Amino acid sequence: MDKVTLEDYDKRNSMRFEEGKQLIGQIISDFPTGIFPIILDVGCGSGNLSRAMARLIPHDTIFGIDSDLGLVTLSENKNSTPETISYVSQDISQPWDQLAPELTRLAGHVDLILSNITLHWVTDIATACKNFEHLLKPGGVFYFNILGIKTIPISPKLQCLPQKRIVSQITEMVSILYRNELEVRRSELFQNRWLYSGEELYSLIPIMYKMCYNLINESEFLKFDEIEQEKVREEIRNGVHAAYVFDLENVEENYVVASGEQFWFRYDSFTM
Ligand SMILES: C[S@@+](CC[C@H](N)C(=O)[O-])C[C@H]1O[C@@H](n2cnc3c(N)ncnc32)[C@H](O)[C@@H]1O
Repeated sequence: MDKVTLEDYDKRNSMRFEEGKQLIGQIISDFPTGIFPIILDVGCGSGNLSRAMARLIPHDTIFGIDSDLGLVTLSENKNSTPETISYVSQDISQPWDQLAPELTRLAGHVDLILSNITLHWVTDIATACKNFEHLLKPGGVFYFNILGIKTIPISPKLQCLPQKRIVSQITEMVSILYRNELEVRRSELFQNRWLYSGEELYSLIPIMYKMCYNLINESEFLKFDEIEQEKVREEIRNGVHAAYVFDLENVEENYVVASGEQFWFRYDSFTM
């Protein structure tokens, strides 16, 4: 994550942390007396949730894994990290034989994998799931939630932005899990909204653009000249606003918002 300070990151953390706590609550409710000696927190970000798990779930070791551990370092300086947590810098969608030895040596021994609001960033989810299957021990469990990518209102000529409805995203995820011998026991879709302060929204909206830009089909996009490319970007920005945010009338083009203003952010997520 480039150019993001811990302060920025924490400012837009409220919804994410709440989602993570719900995931932990679900695990505790499913396994009230459960002990999970080895836990992986995939896409651990600033390590907030790894630390919450360390307090709430009986374990021996938690591995916080992230492709960008810059935030963890900042966060560790501010918060005391329990000795049972270790962090591993790793893109989880790399093929198994390219994973860090700290991970491959856990093959078949992991009791619980948790991933909060992360997998929508992982471009090769199929390889990531294959890795999870190698890592989990028989009977091990995998809990995750994922942000659904909303279909955004854009003109039909924008072939360069393939869009999938949330239901297809879920079906695809289920089939990837089954292909990798991970049995799906629960699948829930949530249509949520979250009240953000202007400041939080200011941090979050560029991330939503990025999520959409990531979907752009590069070769189709490059067929446009520069002016048209900028028009496409603008159409996507407007589409993101229309799909995700309520009450934006007062927001200036550059997203400077008066402090104290609040906005509803609507998002879909699914959890398995
Ligand atoms: C939205 S943050 C969620 C952070 C954390 N789970 C939380 O609840 O605060 C997503 C995290 O996933 C990480 N990430 C994205 N792609 C990844 C990948 N392929 N492998 C590992 N981590 C990844 C990002 O660096 C980022 O820290």
